[in-house]
Amino acid sequence: MPSTTRRTVLTAAAAAGVTAAAAGTAHASAHGHGASGSRPVKEPFGRLADGTPVHRWTVSNGGTTLKVLSYGGVIHSLETADRHGRPANVALGFDNLDDYVAKSPYFGGLIGRYGNRIANGRFTLDGTTHQLPVNDGPNSLHGGDRGFDKRIWDVEPFTRGADTGLILTRTSPDGEAGYPGNLAVRVTYTLTPRGEWRIDYEATTDRATVINLTSHTYFNLAGEGSGSTDGHLLELAAARYTPVGPTLIPTGELAAVARTPFDFRRARTIGAPARTAHEQVGFAKGIDHNYVLDKGLTARPGYALTITHPESGRVMKMYTTEPGMQFYTGNFLDGTLTGTTGRRYRQGDAFCLEAQHFPDSPNQPAFPSTVLRPGETYRSTTLHAFSTR
Ligand code: GLA
Repeated sequence: MPSTTRRTVLTAAAAAGVTAAAAGTAHASAHGHGASGSRPVKEPFGRLADGTPVHRWTVSNGGTTLKVLSYGGVIHSLETADRHGRPANVALGFDNLDDYVAKSPYFGGLIGRYGNRIANGRFTLDGTTHQLPVNDGPNSLHGGDRGFDKRIWDVEPFTRGADTGLILTRTSPDGEAGYPGNLAVRVTYTLTPRGEWRIDYEATTDRATVINLTSHTYFNLAGEGSGSTDGHLLELAAARYTPVGPTLIPTGELAAVARTPFDFRRARTIGAPARTAHEQVGFAKGIDHNYVLDKGLTARPGYALTITHPESGRVMKMYTTEPGMQFYTGNFLDGTLTGTTGRRYRQGDAFCLEAQHFPDSPNQPAFPSTVLRPGETYRSTTLHAFSTR
């Protein structure tokens, strides 16, 4: 049975992880769980059809443990403690590489070259029109049918002072997925001694292009596979959002959230708003919208949101340099995917919070620009801070 095979694979991988950690990191065992600066550990995770090996890296610091695949820079799991100190994996995923390749709805993926949708997969830059692969109705979503979340990344571990993490690099060749320019990308996942997970993105190009990198973790602060996230409380510092048309392309308007289901300026549960009769909720089968963060585009990460799971006490705060935040209530999870510990994921069993520039910016002159030119460096930082209450 496929489910039995999956569980066997998981057990073997988990055992290998424990052995590798125990054998490879005297430092980690000396300091115990949550110690700072332990060296990242690498283990095999599988092979692509062409034989390319994929590895999984484990990074631990300050009570947070991150497991990352060299395939897609995927966040395979993210462990944080509840108010009693009990750890759980709060990120959805699969226990095997084949499922990531065949059917992942971007679980944990590093998204590029362009997070979210570009209308009709087309944009014009400096007088040249570029056609991208169309993979979501009439539009191009998350970099097309083979975006950065489906590519192999070079991964290097580092420890810097009390911080520890991984540096992922890859050069996306000119014309890949229809985008112009050789794009050299460097993404750093850092865990701090306070258990914060920080993502720093950097990129340069040799031709003018557009770029919008983000991270697509599906969170459930009760633990992956534990059911609905409806009872999570979200506070989101955004007075406006970008309404969309029927194919989820922004209309261009920055609309007030006041007196709509999109208003999370004061903490409230996420399940009920995603079930209202509002036309925008109908288009997206829930909430799947970009918020205009009050802090705007900033040089340093600014406060965006707090999300809390009252029962476990887990709290995640996000800070970002980005001007937007896509809040997605897991609307398209439909019970067809079986996750890391063998449980089916149903609608609303996770939510995504993707710090980003606004969707379809290349076709929306009034939105903050996503153009990157030779000689410039694209930089973006997003921080996830975990605590309990
Ligand atoms: C983003 C999009 C959603 C959906 C998910 C992945 O959040 O806005 O519409 O495509 O990614 O399924």
